Amino acid sequence: MRLLHTAEGLRCCLAQGGTGSVGLVPTMGALHAGHLSLIDRARRETDRVVVSIFVNPLQFGPGEDLDRYPQTLEQDCDRCNAAGADIVFAPTPRSLYGTPHPAAADLTQVTPPAAMIAGLCGQSRPGHFQGVATVVTKLLNLVQPSRAYFGRKDAQQLAILKRLVQDLNLPVQIVDCPIVREADGLALSSRNRYLGPAERAQATILYQSLSAAETAFQAGVRLSSELVAIVKSGLATTPAAQPEYVALVHPDSLEPLEEIRTMGLLAIAARVGTTRLIDNICLRSR
Ligand code: PAJ
Repeated sequence: MRLLHTAEGLRCCLAQGGTGSVGLVPTMGALHAGHLSLIDRARRETDRVVVSIFVNPLQFGPGEDLDRYPQTLEQDCDRCNAAGADIVFAPTPRSLYGTPHPAAADLTQVTPPAAMIAGLCGQSRPGHFQGVATVVTKLLNLVQPSRAYFGRKDAQQLAILKRLVQDLNLPVQIVDCPIVREADGLALSSRNRYLGPAERAQATILYQSLSAAETAFQAGVRLSSELVAIVKSGLATTPAAQPEYVALVHPDSLEPLEEIRTMGLLAIAARVGTTRLIDNICLRSR
């Protein structure tokens, strides 16, 4: 496995590798089994797997956790190697953006459709999805993969990136991968390591609340108001979990739904202590 820190090094290494298909797994590092499931899928479906590890300053707002986001490159490389990745691309902000402290206003950015960033995490994280769309566009242009792998854990990000490649005619297939969870249901996240032991136990309420709504959905409940109320009352049983939003939207367009006709994405963001967690489930009528 090769570890590369510059765009030039990456291009050179890719050019030497021949004509086989390339799979890209973009990450911000602090790799866990969720990330590894994406790498594993990429390895099964493409000839060469590139994992990018880059804590993208452009997608963090003021007061967010950019400065304390876990950086564990050595361990991440071991995990990528064990998972069968061929290349780890870990650029610095300077090598990717030409400056150590890139500012959105100084760059050409990619702006997703307003309706897709108005709700859910877009509400409390202005500029976040522009930052994501911009860095992913840069990574796709640098690596030129035939497939790029993303998790459903970040369902809004996934929907936005699918629209991005469609709207900009990028020649890549976005592959979406299931959410990997702990045994007690908590979705794996690099941010789970911020949770203290008590908070870690309380954090299971996100998935438990979503599961209660799923049970109701399977019993015939279709109205957004009812499904959202079930999730909110579940979350209310754990006062340490403070919901930021609970919403039912269409998984592709992200438009708010009043009821589920075919499918709906039920999504949560909540703070447990000071840690902001997200989770979701997709509900489908048979
Ligand atoms: P990061 O949070 O590191 O996540 C990288 C990829 O792993 C994303 O596609 C995310 O959805 C997926 N992922 C995270 N937790 C998962 C889980 N429990 N199960 C399955 N997949 C999971 O998302 C980002 O980085 C960044 O925004 C990025 C796309 C790299 C752009 O900077």
